[in-house]
Amino acid sequence: MAFSLGWKAPRGCWNLLQPVSSGFPLFSWRTAGSYLDPKVKAFVEDNTEVTSSGSLTPEIQLRLLTPKCKFWWERADLWPYSDPYWAIYWPGGQALSRYLLDNPDVVRGKSVLDFGSGCGATAIAAKMGGAAKVLANDIDPIAGMAVVLNCRLNGLNPFPILTKNILNMQQGKWDLIVLGDMFYDEDLAESLHRWLENCFWTYGTRVLIGDPGRPQFSGHRIQHQLHRLVEYILPEPTQQENNGLTTSTVWDFQP
Ligand SMILES: C[S@@+](CC[C@H](N)C(=O)[O-])C[C@H]1O[C@@H](n2cnc3c(N)ncnc32)[C@H](O)[C@@H]1O
Repeated sequence: MAFSLGWKAPRGCWNLLQPVSSGFPLFSWRTAGSYLDPKVKAFVEDNTEVTSSGSLTPEIQLRLLTPKCKFWWERADLWPYSDPYWAIYWPGGQALSRYLLDNPDVVRGKSVLDFGSGCGATAIAAKMGGAAKVLANDIDPIAGMAVVLNCRLNGLNPFPILTKNILNMQQGKWDLIVLGDMFYDEDLAESLHRWLENCFWTYGTRVLIGDPGRPQFSGHRIQHQLHRLVEYILPEPTQQENNGLTTSTVWDFQP
């Protein structure tokens, strides 16, 4: 458990902001195999458990780090890759995914970008809800692999995945951008806020944010531009893993 809790500490999240030097290019499910280093794939499969319990979306199966996995108990520095944030289904992503599954009209026929997709659950929920086009984006290439594996677990053809930092890149038009638990660091929150305002004002993109009330979110000026859509009580296992967080809310960004 110590390992998992260590990853959830805000300080650990700073590491996520470092650029990934060898980020994979955009790849689709047809070419995903060529990016899935068999050794890394085997490591991910050996060190995660397929589970659908303990979250707000029991209809989605995911490969996650659970107490049944060796590294749940092992020292964090023995994990040979970057911190596996993709192996945790975060409270913000859970709420957002639950909302999309319960309100498929929000995504049906739409183009959807899941920014900071981690395990890919919210992108998977968008696809299940009938989104016409889904892109999962995460700076961690192993998260990209996890998304491919998790798509297959749920009987979906893996959608495109982009493992680059797109915050400073020219944006395409998206009908909807979803962000689960992405406001955990002040610098990232600032960059994201600017980027989301630009997406909204340039393209009229709708933005939905899932967050369990992290201080970097509830203390940010973005609060004045949010409309609360729904609040969920987190399942007991998620509460236990998240040190006292009890609810998670979906917000509509309306600058
Ligand atoms: C707290 S996790 C949330 C994952 C997922 N959205 C969820 O709710 O389960 C944050 C994720 O954002 C990714 N990330 C951090 N900075 C990013 C950036 N600039 N662009 C894309 N992804 C980023 C991390 O690699 C990590 O997978």
